[in-house]
Amino acid sequence: MAELFDHIPDRVSIYEVGPRDGLQNEAVTIGTVRKLRLIDALCAAGLSRIEITSFVSPHWIPQLADADRLADLVGQREGKQLSALCPNGRGLARARVADLREIAVFLSASETHNRRNINKSVDQALGVFREMVPQALRYGMRVRAYVSTAWGWPYEGDVDPRRVLELSRSLIELGCYEISLGDTIGVGTPLQTKRILKLLLSEVPAEQLALHMHDTRGQALANVLVGLELGIRTFDAAIGGLGGCPYAPGASGNLATEDLVYMLHHMGVQTGIDPEKLFEAGRVAEAVVRRELPGRVHRAGLRALRG
Ligand code: HMG
Ligand code: MG
Repeated sequence: MAELFDHIPDRVSIYEVGPRDGLQNEAVTIGTVRKLRLIDALCAAGLSRIEITSFVSPHWIPQLADADRLADLVGQREGKQLSALCPNGRGLARARVADLREIAVFLSASETHNRRNINKSVDQALGVFREMVPQALRYGMRVRAYVSTAWGWPYEGDVDPRRVLELSRSLIELGCYEISLGDTIGVGTPLQTKRILKLLLSEVPAEQLALHMHDTRGQALANVLVGLELGIRTFDAAIGGLGGCPYAPGASGNLATEDLVYMLHHMGVQTGIDPEKLFEAGRVAEAVVRRELPGRVHRAGLRALRG
């Protein structure tokens, strides 16, 4: 390994977005109790950071309209950091009623994606967060932030990484503890990832960055490797490769959690996750959405891990 990689860590943190990113784009309505079963399975597999839902407008994301009831059913879980996406003060108020200790805000490096996704310009979104993030911090919550389309957007092509840096800086100044860089439509490739991360890391400490790679073109793990080598230690993933943003055409599944864990464990990188139980959680996810999921390990099985 040493001749190929110089900076592979002993341990990384995985942030599971299956119940949120994974379910927000599903075609069929999924009952709240089925979502709860999925979250239980993810907790049992050892995932400790889970985005359970979104407190967004039910008109915009009907699949997650049951967020309040779900959060109530999930309740507090010892040793778990449960979070939810919140676009505005209304979302924050709902997260507070649910007694969540963490929320995630989101904006896009692409102006058009931002408008499609939250019906605001990027500056307007920052204006909302300028009030909301300090308020969440006063409530004792931690706030994570996404910068979406950091690798590009179909109608604008490559996004300028300097814009990604500028937005990340603003969100950190507001008090967000971590910026998750989103390849929303899964177009990023390793050299591009290296260029983007090198620029970001010139100002933002690696501990404050995470990668959120959609695996639309099969590049997610290659990009994760680049991130690992450059010191990134938090990676987002979704069980079974669920996922997609309804306001980003062509955005398919996230990097599958099982694929990420398989690669990391075989490299000697610990995650605190039990691969067998994670595999079982993938089966639960498949039963919950009632369709075949695209994750590679999910489909091929874990045999090589046992053998
Ligand atoms: P708007 O229509 O401009 O908002 O939407 P509004 O303030 O005019 O409100 C419209 C209606 O929504 C009103 O209801 C509000 O009360 C209600 P009505 O009076 O018509 O019945 N509303 C809310 N209801 C519940 N909770 C709320 C809330 N806010 C307003 N928090 C808004 C603006 C931001 C609300 C809307 O655009 C929205 O909810 N967008 C969410 C879109 C979304 O969730 N997209 C997917 C997640 S992002 C993603 O997947 C990318 C990511 O994974 C990273 C990556 O991959 O790069 C994170
Ligand atoms: Mg996403």
